[in-house]
Amino acid sequence: MRGARLIAAGLVSCALAVAGCGGDDPVAGTATSEAPGTIASTPAPPPTAAAPEPAPPPPPEPLAGLPGDTAGYEAWDRINADPIPDGSPAAQRVGFDAHGGTKNVYVTPGAERGPDGWPDGTIVVKAAGDDPGAPTLIAIMRKIAGSDAEHGDWEFVEYKRDSPGETFATSAALRDATCWSCHATALDTDWVFTADDR
Ligand code: HEC
Repeated sequence: MRGARLIAAGLVSCALAVAGCGGDDPVAGTATSEAPGTIASTPAPPPTAAAPEPAPPPPPEPLAGLPGDTAGYEAWDRINADPIPDGSPAAQRVGFDAHGGTKNVYVTPGAERGPDGWPDGTIVVKAAGDDPGAPTLIAIMRKIAGSDAEHGDWEFVEYKRDSPGETFATSAALRDATCWSCHATALDTDWVFTADDR
């Protein structure tokens, strides 16, 4: 009985460590070895240890309800040096503060007003609210060459929401004709009031 148990134990350990058993079998030892005469090749270097490329940042998303071309405006060029306070003289230069709230004005990166005005494709975004970083009003001017020479080839549109976190919406009254009367008093600076303090 004792012998049988030893044999059984041997079989089990053999089954557990297959590679180590069958030592007398001439084939077992050569099955995986190199062909005669070959020099064991140096093991392939581990995959380059360089850190993986960081994933590019995802493209910015517009704030809910705003058009896609305003995505990431917060990172554009801010032309006002300091936030424009609610009801300040600058905001009331046409009689009353049309936009309300504290404001920041951004333009597409690199766009600058030249002798002929702002370049085609310029987008001006004004963000306003109690906190212009979490705006409740977004006013947009888009320069589209050839679109409306009478109004400086600017398209005007404004979006509003009651509180940050809600979705912005616009309406037929919040565009073009509503905006021209005031902005036409800024013809010398191509319809844009805010001085470029960059
Ligand atoms: C009562 C006059 C008035 C009306 C009407 C008005 N704006 Fe303005 N807007 C201003 C003034 C003044 C500024 C500059 C100071 C400020 O931002 O408050 C301004 C600033 C802006 C700016 C930032 C660029 C700039 O000119 O400084 C945008 C964009 C803008 N308005 C869009 C609009 C749109 C779109 C409308 C129509 C829905 C509109 N505005 C209607 C007076 C007006």
